[in-house]
Amino acid sequence: MAKARTHYICRSCGAVQTQWMGKCPDCGAWDALEKFTETKVSKEAHSGLAESWKAENQSGPAMSIASAVAAVPLPEIQTTDTPRMPTGVGELDRVLGGGLVPGSVVLLGGDPGIGKSTLMLQAAGHMAQSEQRVLYVTSEESAFQTRLRAERLFSDDGIAIQHAKPLQRAVAGIDQLDELYILADTNLARIVEQARKIQPRMMVIDSVQMIYKSDVEASPGSVTQLRRTCTELVYLAKISGIAIVLVGHVTKDGHLAGPKLLEHLVDAVLSFEGDRHHSHRIVRGIKNRFGTTLEVGLFEMTGAGLKEVSDSAALLDPKARPQPGSVICPAMHGTRCLLVEIQALTATGFLGAAKRKTSGLDGNRLAMLIAVLEKHGGLRLADQDVFASAVGGLKVIEPAADLAVCLAIAGAHFSRAMPPGMAAMGEVGLGGEIRHVHQVEQRLRESHRLGYRTILMPTDSSDGALSGVEIVRVKSLAQAMANLTPVARSS
Ligand code: TYD
Ligand code: MG
Repeated sequence: MAKARTHYICRSCGAVQTQWMGKCPDCGAWDALEKFTETKVSKEAHSGLAESWKAENQSGPAMSIASAVAAVPLPEIQTTDTPRMPTGVGELDRVLGGGLVPGSVVLLGGDPGIGKSTLMLQAAGHMAQSEQRVLYVTSEESAFQTRLRAERLFSDDGIAIQHAKPLQRAVAGIDQLDELYILADTNLARIVEQARKIQPRMMVIDSVQMIYKSDVEASPGSVTQLRRTCTELVYLAKISGIAIVLVGHVTKDGHLAGPKLLEHLVDAVLSFEGDRHHSHRIVRGIKNRFGTTLEVGLFEMTGAGLKEVSDSAALLDPKARPQPGSVICPAMHGTRCLLVEIQALTATGFLGAAKRKTSGLDGNRLAMLIAVLEKHGGLRLADQDVFASAVGGLKVIEPAADLAVCLAIAGAHFSRAMPPGMAAMGEVGLGGEIRHVHQVEQRLRESHRLGYRTILMPTDSSDGALSGVEIVRVKSLAQAMANLTPVARSS
């Protein structure tokens, strides 16, 4: 007879306590402990699942993964055997580090309605097209709704011809997707059973919050259910070699619902972000055991699904007349340079209670830059509300954007704009000095390509010359601000 033990799990950080407390002693969250009754069956359940899987599949990659338990000296480990399965959606593959790794589990999180199901169905369609079997478990929508969505995505004039990358295979029509299996179910046991029958290379669970295990007495989406279902799915991936993508929602405050504990379990966590009122979407790696977390994937939501955006040209309007409070900055996102428009606005506030708000920028960094502007730039901002944002839903956290933020604030404050075709990069120090940035050459090349031919940059960046680009070297914030030109206010 299985023995039941009761624990309390923190919804916020995943810490386990033996008794209920009002405040989690680990992360300090209030009223976050949830009751979790653990029957000691998980081990047997795992081995049962493993045994049944092994019995069905006596060969194949699953066995080599399951049986690789002997310890080996480090140099003898083969590094070449992390095979990648490209999903066919180039921007997603870029964030994953080249594609899905067989036997890995990826968690894709994002706000409801941001486009998670659309992205995964497109990826599934592309994989099915290249003869890789996919099981798409749709636990929120019916199989019929998924078919309707697929018709919209894979029609002849749909996404296929909108791909940015020429190498990508076009999905010609829905009739060719016979390797794409749809399962509308929420019961984990039945899902595993179908996976065993179908033997897919990739399985998408959309969404993981709806899946339940019938022997767990908790509602789907609760911490208890999530923990159990995810552990089983991770185990399934490891023994079967199937790459599993778990789709999850985020809560109001931007965290994956139920979550930190899921983040520990999976191999990679991707976050799908974007402004609902904006068509651009960004996939960002938060954790990746098989690659970097620096890369971002850019998409645009169109009437026929997500379209890949391969550079930042789409985020900018090079023909727009420069406005006060708007500065272009070449910012690095992983290995890629994207030109981002930094905007700022100052408005009358209350002395001692002035607001400082950011969107896509670091709030603490903004507070520091405002202090530097007051001390070294001659601005009086103590009674001014300051708002600063990175346009297009991108997050810019590197210090190289400091100069652009400062110039945007100064420009907004004094109604001065940057000259047309000028971009700025540089870290701003506490003494008002403009400091070194890295990867100067790549930033210059990208700025030049998009029509920004004059670049404000620090004096100590030795590398930095590109024909056709005029470099204006600035030592201090005051020197940089001298480049702002007054504009007549348009009525
Ligand atoms: P969806 O993938 O269902 O979001 P999620 O799974 O993250 O909840 O995307 C829903 C939104 O995307 C919906 O508001 C409509 C829009 N959309 C398009 O604009 N074009 C399309 O081709 C599709 C399929 C959806
Ligand atoms: Mg969805």
